[in-house]
Amino acid sequence: MNSANQTKAKNIYDDVVVMYFVYATMGWGIIAFLVGLLAALQLAYWPMNMDMEWLTFGRVRPLHTNAAIFAFAGNAVFAGIYHSTQRLCKVRMFSDKLSWLHFWGWQAIILGAAITLPLGFTQSKEYAELEWPLDIAIALIWVVFAINFFMTLRNRKEKHMYVAIWFYIATVITVAVLHIFNSIEIPVGFLKSYPVYAGIQDAMVQWWCGHNAVAFFLMTPFLGMMYYYIPKAANKPVYSYRLSIIHFWALIFIYIWAGPHHLLNTSIPDWAQTLGMIFSLMLSAPSWGGMINGLLTLRGAWHLLRTSPVIKFLVTAVTFYGMATFEAHRFLSKP
Ligand code: HEM
Ligand code: HEM
Repeated sequence: MNSANQTKAKNIYDDVVVMYFVYATMGWGIIAFLVGLLAALQLAYWPMNMDMEWLTFGRVRPLHTNAAIFAFAGNAVFAGIYHSTQRLCKVRMFSDKLSWLHFWGWQAIILGAAITLPLGFTQSKEYAELEWPLDIAIALIWVVFAINFFMTLRNRKEKHMYVAIWFYIATVITVAVLHIFNSIEIPVGFLKSYPVYAGIQDAMVQWWCGHNAVAFFLMTPFLGMMYYYIPKAANKPVYSYRLSIIHFWALIFIYIWAGPHHLLNTSIPDWAQTLGMIFSLMLSAPSWGGMINGLLTLRGAWHLLRTSPVIKFLVTAVTFYGMATFEAHRFLSKP
């Protein structure tokens, strides 16, 4: 970016909140991985729980997963979305106040998780362990984010909505729907609640949410970022815009049905397991279509792999994404 453009960006865009989200990503990342390390050490040598109930594996493991997903990856997602959306829409975020409420609200929720999980307050639903007051706080802060994001789109100076924004829209809407339905529970105390769903229904709803959490919290926002940052870093247009649109619609249509693959060989109905497996197999097409679209954007610019650290990280990330989704099909077996 030349210096005139840099000054323009400084004047128009709110990059301070972006930087804060980046700092939070780094800070929570260190904590999340240290807690992961503690869990790993306990797997190898159980006395590493130091005979303290707060540090037992059952409490440390969800602390690690929540910190890795919602604190580390979550703050990275917000940084990427705030940074790229402003540039794609050619406007500042709708409201600085909402941006800061989003930032501090999210950090407060993480702090709440870091206190309540070691103390043993949990709903025991994987990736949705937090108790009802924190569930409500998550819903409220997500609404703040949604208002800020959609109003920015409304104010945009660039008429065309680039494909990255579609991935962000899917993220904002779907995470809200998943979180709200998965968290319908009846409080029986300040930090204790029971889900309204029972037995098999509870398992189905939980993995519909859990699976789509990895899809719409850990995947769609990063794919949106891939579509923005790879062409930017390579200084080339995306390989195929048509493929990116097919990628988007195919991915969001198919992903949402694959939840039962987390419940194979359990007592959920056989047809639901088969449905989950078939949709998981079909997922190969959009996940590889997306990876290929990202990698082919680098045609004629592969030499940058030698010199640009940004391209090195992006190419590694996209390639491993493709490998990981391919490997996932190994789990799809049913006697
Ligand atoms: C130094 C880095 C890390 C260490 C030492 C670490 C360690 C661990 C350990 C010991 C477990 C429990 C395994 C088990 O129960 O058998 C685990 C699970 C998990 N970790 Fe990490 N982790 C690290 C980084 C990450 C990162 C970067 C992410 C995601 C952004 C992540 C997400 C998860 C998830 C989702 C699970 C649950 C997996 C499952 O239930 O199959 N971890 N990690
Ligand atoms: C084509 C795409 C994908 C397929 C077919 C797929 C398939 C699967 C299957 C079958 C399992 C269950 C394994 C078992 O319990 O035996 C699983 C678990 C998991 N997947 Fe994926 N997956 C895909 C994409 C992703 C993505 C993009 C992410 C994250 C970025 C992800 C994260 C996870 C995690 C964290 C688990 C462990 C869940 C747990 O705690 O039990 N998956 N996946």
